Amino acid sequence: MTDPVVVVDQVHKSFGGHRVLTGVTLSVTAGETVAILGRSGTGKSVLLKTIIALLDPDRGSVQVFGKNLHALDEDGRRKARAGIGYVFQGAALFDSLTVLENVGFAMYQQRRPEAEIRTEVMKRLEMVGLADAIDKVPSELSGGMQKRVGLARAIIGEPKLILYDEPTTGLDPLTTDVINRIILRLRRKLGVTSIVVTHDIKSAFTIADRIIMLEQGLIVAEGTPDDIQASGNLWVRNFITGHSPEIDTNGSRARIPAILVDPPVE
Ligand SMILES: Nc1ncnc2c1ncn2[C@@H]1O[C@H](COP(=O)(O)OP(=O)(O)OP(=O)(O)O)[C@@H](O)[C@H]1O
Ligand SMILES: [Mg+2]
Repeated sequence: MTDPVVVVDQVHKSFGGHRVLTGVTLSVTAGETVAILGRSGTGKSVLLKTIIALLDPDRGSVQVFGKNLHALDEDGRRKARAGIGYVFQGAALFDSLTVLENVGFAMYQQRRPEAEIRTEVMKRLEMVGLADAIDKVPSELSGGMQKRVGLARAIIGEPKLILYDEPTTGLDPLTTDVINRIILRLRRKLGVTSIVVTHDIKSAFTIADRIIMLEQGLIVAEGTPDDIQASGNLWVRNFITGHSPEIDTNGSRARIPAILVDPPVE
């Protein structure tokens, strides 16, 4: 049995009295791809940012590669993050830098030779189908292209763990398929461990070994794609079929999900 790469234990996180994560516990083993599904505003991005220690939990702990990043100072955190790729929900590119400089940012900081940086950046851009964009600036690219640049940047350092925050949202179906294939290839060829936050249920079923469903800051269902497909849990069924449980048949708003009265699948 390999050691888990990520262990999240009873993590709570609030912002000014607004409780976002309310006791999240999960563990991800080496080489595993876990998809996290959940409605907008339910704490998915906060969870990823807590894992990579951009946010600190109020309670509970997180271990990544056996290390508690939250116990480290900013410099220690930066070093630990070098082995982790992070695809931000927005592309989060530097507007004034070219694609080359954005994707190769970490290599420039390490003062690696220009020719080597260009070669490595080009390899990643070819993977995401953007070789032609290397000398452009973000404002010259579409939103979907910027997103792919963000993915290229996340995989430049050959990370062993990649956290993807909605890597395919807003992309056309063909580009979505390209991104899904990249995620699968990184796992198959390099044994990368991945956590993928997504709204794209089809992507989740395609790429994930395990699916975790988050609602109101808690994990409410967890299982293989087959388990989730076969789940009798009303909330899970509603989520994967895109049916809103908040709207009753008269069109008026009913109270929030049956989820908390309908036990999650084991
Ligand atoms: N830095 C912050 N300060 C204050 N509130 C925050 C902060 N970050 C997130 N929140 C709040 O936490 C809640 C969860 O946000 P989060 O971004 O994790 O949602 P999400 O599940 O990723 O949603 P989406 O699917 O829309 O991206 C939201 O109500 C958000 O306003
Ligand atoms: Mg989010």
